[in-house]
Amino acid sequence: MRGANSIKDQSLTKKLLPCTLHILLLIPLLPIVLLSFYFYSLSLAPSPPTKLSPSAVHSCFCNIADKDYVSDTPCDYFNGRWVRDKRGPLYNGTSCSTIKESQNCIINGRHDTSYLYWRWKPSQCHLLRFDPNTFLQLITNKHVAFIGDSLARNQIESLLCLLATASALKRVHHKGSRRWHFAAHNASLSLYWSPFLVQGVQRSSTGPLHNILHLDRVNEKWARDVDQMDLIVLSVGNWFLVPSVYYEGGKVLGCLNCDGLEYTDIGFYGPLRKALRTTLNSIIEKKVGKGNGIGVIVRTFSPSHFEGDWDKEGTCSKSRPYRKGEMKLGEVDEEMRRIEMEEVEKAKAKAKQLGGFSLEALDVTKLSWLRPDGHPGAYMNHFPFANGISKRVQNDCVHWCLPGPIDSWNEILVEMMKPRVKNPTF
Ligand SMILES: *[C@@H]1O[C@H](CO)[C@@H](O)[C@H](O)[C@H]1NC(C)=O
Ligand SMILES: *[C@@H]1O[C@H](CO)[C@@H](O)[C@H](O)[C@H]1NC(C)=O
Repeated sequence: MRGANSIKDQSLTKKLLPCTLHILLLIPLLPIVLLSFYFYSLSLAPSPPTKLSPSAVHSCFCNIADKDYVSDTPCDYFNGRWVRDKRGPLYNGTSCSTIKESQNCIINGRHDTSYLYWRWKPSQCHLLRFDPNTFLQLITNKHVAFIGDSLARNQIESLLCLLATASALKRVHHKGSRRWHFAAHNASLSLYWSPFLVQGVQRSSTGPLHNILHLDRVNEKWARDVDQMDLIVLSVGNWFLVPSVYYEGGKVLGCLNCDGLEYTDIGFYGPLRKALRTTLNSIIEKKVGKGNGIGVIVRTFSPSHFEGDWDKEGTCSKSRPYRKGEMKLGEVDEEMRRIEMEEVEKAKAKAKQLGGFSLEALDVTKLSWLRPDGHPGAYMNHFPFANGISKRVQNDCVHWCLPGPIDSWNEILVEMMKPRVKNPTF
């Protein structure tokens, strides 16, 4: 387990990419799916027609809102297209001070800013522009926790920038999380670094060489605070692609890509499913009978867009979104998303009997897949081409530029939290 002082966000790209290379070059045993993950962008087959699944249509998080509000006609926010929008983002890299350097693309020298002028348009309804005051009103006297990997950090930093346009925030000290407080609303946002959600140790250059995951034990770092959370947003996925040894009941269950060890390779889909199930069950158990209610949102897998070598210029340098059907979602993205959606449905069934418990998927996989133009790429570093084009340049095609397409995740998040207006004074 990592100590509380090492909340420092780990750079997923730095750790994932060298390992990716290692995987591609050295490990012929690797399941073919992982290879296809890195080459899926070559596939040109059109997307299958999208169906409206019951889980895609959310109802409001009535537990974190007043009981008097009822849900409006539900909308499927997760199928649609990106349309041009001249207005651009609410904030920029100069006006917002909480953006991680490696995601502050404009400050890092990205000239092409056309990726900022798109908005997400669901097929059947309109998605409102983010209104910070509405969000702050919704979280008044509440604590919203983002738990998971560096994409959780990416999303909360988008949210902090959006909210900071309307209200002052203050970083507050908390053991185990990064935390911000909006005094005017007595609202707190927190970020818990826990890339597996379950208990585990991340692989690193100083060892262990593989992630170690206990699939049946939650990470107490966040789990011990669940009682103080009103809404939890979970972010998980990418760290499951890294070589790992999995434990269950204290015994080795198998591994992923664990060259040199005598364990059976069981891939990463099963372990992801187990880890998510352990997490959701644990939250349900902790909240049973507590009466104060909780909302849980599972943000589905965020697809990356590596094309070709990860260390070459132009690895994800598209300058506009894909049109619907232009490029098929990768097999691994699709499967990661499917597992997350299925586990949300299962947990929902369990939580149904419990009052004040709502659980939904923030299903961003497909809409994010359409944004190959939204990653930092080489602009994860400050002015990467200041000395001319170098042979090797590290690219981040996993995280998202801020501002950028990920701001739309938070636009949908508000809609999921919003009580529908029966009470027009809201
Ligand atoms: C960034 O935002 C601030 C505040 O809204 C604005 O004054 C400034 O001109 C913006 N800078 C750029 C480069 O758009
Ligand atoms: C402030 O918010 C916390 C939750 O974050 C809540 O427990 C507390 O009661 C709130 N304080 C007031 C005065 O409402």
